[in-house]
Amino acid sequence: MTESDALFDTPQVDFPEPAPLPSHGPARIVAMANQKGGVGKTTTTINLAAALADYGRRVLVVDFDPQGAASAGLGINARGLDRTIYNELIADHPDVESIIQHTSVPGLDVVPANIDLSAAEIVLINEVAREQALLRVLRPVLNTYDLIIIDCQPSLGLLTVNALTAAHGVIIPLEAEFFAMRGVALLTEQIARIQDRLNPRLTIDGVLLTMVDLRTLHSRDVMHSVKEGFADKVYSTFITRTVKFPDASVAAEPITQYAPSHSGAKQYRQFAREVIAKGQCA
Ligand SMILES: Nc1ncnc2c1ncn2[C@@H]1O[C@H](COP(=O)(O)OP(=O)(O)OP(=O)(O)O)[C@@H](O)[C@H]1O
Ligand SMILES: [Mg+2]
Repeated sequence: MTESDALFDTPQVDFPEPAPLPSHGPARIVAMANQKGGVGKTTTTINLAAALADYGRRVLVVDFDPQGAASAGLGINARGLDRTIYNELIADHPDVESIIQHTSVPGLDVVPANIDLSAAEIVLINEVAREQALLRVLRPVLNTYDLIIIDCQPSLGLLTVNALTAAHGVIIPLEAEFFAMRGVALLTEQIARIQDRLNPRLTIDGVLLTMVDLRTLHSRDVMHSVKEGFADKVYSTFITRTVKFPDASVAAEPITQYAPSHSGAKQYRQFAREVIAKGQCA
């Protein structure tokens, strides 16, 4: 048993190397959501996407946060762009293909966002089917990708409602610290409301523990309370805390590219294999 096995009871399962895909699409859509800030939504979006692309999956990251962190982290300077996801959301005839940017990772593309997106909630409020605006934008590229990951902002507002309405599944990153579960009930209630009223196919794909510190004793308590809340919805993969993640975002690269043999890169590759093994990506 390794140190981490001992700490978390359940041994980390190693998932098999996925077989290459003979063809691509239709995409599953996943919302990366937690209204709590700084829990690892963007880091998980970028690195899960990059690891899946390394396994030959075609992946589209939708930056759905006016801070534009997912765009920046993938090397896209969205600040200077005239057209981003915002323009497509409010367009009469959206053309998402015209704003998609390629990244340095083959098979990984981005729909960029910048501060313009902060106006969207106000503009959309008077629209017909305002909760379906994002799904309408994404529809034309569903057959191009295997997975579309929407990096949500830390809020339960209309943008996140749009992401949850478009999605098949939700991944909830939780920072492994004492108050991790605080506020999570609000998120699961919102997910249940959207299942009920707007998107019956929506399911919680799983809860990913991030920023786990194996040296702290309360990591074990946090793991237990998260398992009590979510049972088998907790991914067996967890991500440990390391400064390589902030370093990689400064370098504007996924960790799988910035430091491919670092434990952080290995953990996100393992997470990608788990997601494929669970049928959450082709
Ligand atoms: N496993 C980790 N170890 C150490 N630092 C991490 C880890 N994961 C993420 N970070 C860092 O923590 C900060 C917050 O992470 P991230 O931006 O991914 O969270 P977020 O949930 O997207 O935040 P926000 O709610 O503001 O969008 C970033 O500086 C990131 O580099
Ligand atoms: Mg973020």
